[in-house]
This record gives sequence, C-alpha cells and structure tokens, in this order.
Amino acid sequence: MNLDKIVCNCMSVTNGMIKEAVDAGASTLEEVQDATGAGTACGVCLDDVQHLVEQFVSERDN
Ligand code: FES
Repeated sequence: MNLDKIVCNCMSVTNGMIKEAVDAGASTLEEVQDATGAGTACGVCLDDVQHLVEQFVSERDN
C-alpha cells in the first residue's frame, strides 16, 4: 500500500495518517475521524476510510 496516497481529499488525509491514528489507539471509524478529520466533510471517502481502519486494526492486533 502507498501510505502517502490521499484517502480523504477534503481533509488531506493519507493512508499513512489513518494507520498512525490506529497505531495510536483508534479502533473505530469514529475514533479515526476524531483523530484525523478524515471523512468529516463531504463523506464520499467514508467507505474507503472504514476499510482502511478495519485493515490497520487487524494488522495492529495480530
Ligand atoms: S473526501 Fe473525505 S470528507 Fe470529502
């Protein structure tokens, strides 16, 4: 995965910023939204952000 790729254009949030939020303890979409702002504007990225959260949480906890 390209960690520098933007997942949320509105808030300029990258894949790597989602990973950092998860590694810092966020485990749900809502917690990642609070930590990064991802998905808090137009919402079009929410499905992608959710998938990233699930992937990074499973990597973190395994
Ligand atoms: S692209 Fe993420 S809130 Fe608009």
